Amino acid sequence: MTRVLVSGATGRLGAPICAAVAAADDLVLAGRVARSLAGDGGFATLAEAIAATEADVVVDVTRPDAAEPHCLAAIAAGVPMVLGTTGMDAEATARVDAAAREAGVPVLFCPNFAITAVLMMRFAAEAARILPDAAIVEEHHVNTVDAPSGTARRTADLIEEASGARPPISSLRLPGVVANQSVVFGAPAQTLEIRNVTTSVEAFVPGALLAARRVGGLEPGLHVGLERVLD
Ligand SMILES: NC(=O)c1ccc[n+]([C@@H]2O[C@H](COP(=O)([O-])OP(=O)(O)OC[C@H]3O[C@@H](n4cnc5c(N)ncnc54)[C@H](OP(=O)(O)O)[C@@H]3O)[C@@H](O)[C@H]2O)c1
Repeated sequence: MTRVLVSGATGRLGAPICAAVAAADDLVLAGRVARSLAGDGGFATLAEAIAATEADVVVDVTRPDAAEPHCLAAIAAGVPMVLGTTGMDAEATARVDAAAREAGVPVLFCPNFAITAVLMMRFAAEAARILPDAAIVEEHHVNTVDAPSGTARRTADLIEEASGARPPISSLRLPGVVANQSVVFGAPAQTLEIRNVTTSVEAFVPGALLAARRVGGLEPGLHVGLERVLD
């Protein structure tokens, strides 16, 4: 049984992850973390929760400003970390990687837990090897804090690695949208559109659980993308 500590447990994403962990035969919900849970059956801080529970893994889905301190708290305690929170900048990411290597702890950052989104990125990288002219259009709900989204930036990285050209990103923030992304490739008299659509946060839950089950088997350091544990 893998004991999972969920940080951001009351959030749009954290709440269904908690429910799914509690319902899974091979996982145990070791604890729930959110500032509003202080004295209400959970923990106000991740450090407090790690000290009080014997968690095998932390899943963090909080806010960009909490991502680095939460990674460092898990690393300091020797607990593998799944980071679903997006928006951590390059310097903070490098610090987390260095700390994780030094402490011998794996950290898996998944900009997108949706398995269809991971495949969309994989297929976009494949297309970019042949079609260098690309653009990304990402659409998220109005409360999304960071723009462009972590998924859009990760897709742009993969396309740039494959073609040498970084695609422009357009970010739309609209009510009624959960998280969609199109990658459009253009060539003379033809276009190719690869589109991922998610209709509810439930789309992210199976990937988050998969990451929680498998992160402990990764090498120490920071890994990026659910694809690291998908195949
Ligand atoms: N990787 C993916 O596939 C994916 C998909 C969707 C969203 N996301 C990302 O996941 C994150 C959460 O999204 P959401 O829509 O669920 O947000 P949300 O509904 O605002 O929930 C945020 C959660 O984090 C808690 N929290 C915030 N700051 C905290 C802190 N310093 N310490 C402890 N808990 C804290 C909040 O509770 P309190 O306010 O009570 O502390 C709440 O439980 C965002 O970064 C979002 O971009 C990732």
